[in-house]
Amino acid sequence: MQPFVFHNPTQIVFGAGSVAKCGKVTARYGKKALLVFGRDSIRRTGLYEQVTGTLREAGISWIDHGGVKSNPVLSHVQQGVEKAKNRQVEVVLAVGGGSVLDEAKAIAAGACYDGDVWDFFSDQAVVKQALPLVTVLTLAATGSEMNSGGVVTNEATQQKFNIGSPHLFPKTSILDPELTYTVPPDYTAYSAVDAISHLLEGYFTSTDRATPLQDRFVEGLVKTIMECTEQILADPRHADARATVMWSATWALNGLSTAGIGLYGFPNHMIEHSLSALYDVPHGAGLSIVLPGWMRWQAEQAPAKLARFAREVLGCAAVSEQEAALWAADGLKAWFERIHSPVSLSQVKIPQQDIPAIAANAVMLAEKWHLKAYTAEVIETILRYCA
Ligand code: NZQ
Ligand code: ZN
Repeated sequence: MQPFVFHNPTQIVFGAGSVAKCGKVTARYGKKALLVFGRDSIRRTGLYEQVTGTLREAGISWIDHGGVKSNPVLSHVQQGVEKAKNRQVEVVLAVGGGSVLDEAKAIAAGACYDGDVWDFFSDQAVVKQALPLVTVLTLAATGSEMNSGGVVTNEATQQKFNIGSPHLFPKTSILDPELTYTVPPDYTAYSAVDAISHLLEGYFTSTDRATPLQDRFVEGLVKTIMECTEQILADPRHADARATVMWSATWALNGLSTAGIGLYGFPNHMIEHSLSALYDVPHGAGLSIVLPGWMRWQAEQAPAKLARFAREVLGCAAVSEQEAALWAADGLKAWFERIHSPVSLSQVKIPQQDIPAIAANAVMLAEKWHLKAYTAEVIETILRYCA
């Protein structure tokens, strides 16, 4: 096990009905809030009324910043920053999925900065301060509710880049599994893919070999997410499965599963972000296309961990390591198909001739993330496995 520092300051308030605490929790950090939310689900489900009712009771005034799109964009973040600055907002309250939370993080940072908020994404500036952030999660997938990262697309440059800073951990995140009952089957599937991918990126790319604790932690979580997702798809109001997936997705990207595993990368995310940036593919749908292709490629480079995954998680009985590694790629792909998440570029109407352009876009993030082995040529090779 490698040395590490694990520090996660986010308070979690978990449980059915916990959204009722939203006003009281937010009041700890300020009396004037920027309320960040998405397009229409919050109104359709009655959550807007519920949340603003608790704000009113707690004596908090708020300014709406709705309309955050899935795969949030820079121009909308900039509008939020302006609102927060002009109206002297004290706290940011994000109510939604990962897109809403990520945009809220960027606004929280941008509101305390004189330059353009994109400077943080392009590594031209470091976040030194941010407004306090409270979140109410409505879709369990990204882990943004308990991590310090956020992702935004710059429409002008077609870059889907990330921001990260210890100042961006939410102060408190309210995880009320009942709020996820209305997540439709497609996003339920994409969410499972995303959480599983967060776990597998570190698992497959870790550089330390002696990590049985982290390996079993990941394997247990992946099995749990798979099992509960099937239960949710059969019964969207399955209380235990919704709650278990919600907490599992939080654990999948809060720093715990990667603590001690040494250097690791997020190559599937690096490639997927280009699919979202160029074609606005939902993040989890992009990952279910990229991950099986990457695993096929990885089976040729380093089959051992894939073989272990096939045996421990998918119950593969293949004898040779190579055979089991291929089994891992095919087995996970088959499960993604079973939950109706796309598994090929052609399924989302991305033509093969676009592969060089996707690779050229992805290489920008590979450089930002120091994934030196991932040249445009290598990324093209991987993408051909995803066609
Ligand atoms: O906009 P509304 O109308 O609210 O609809 C949303 C959206 O269309 C809907 N939705 C959310 N909660 C719902 C609901 N519909 C019904 N009932 C509910 N309770 O679901 C759609 C997708 O929402 P979105 O927030 O986009 O999904 P997700 O949570 O998967 O977030 C994706 C974004 O997070 C980024 C992704 O790249 C993508 O931009 N990620 C953030 C990470 C992080 N901060 O750590 C890590 C991830 O790897 C990922 O990159
Ligand atoms: Zn992800």
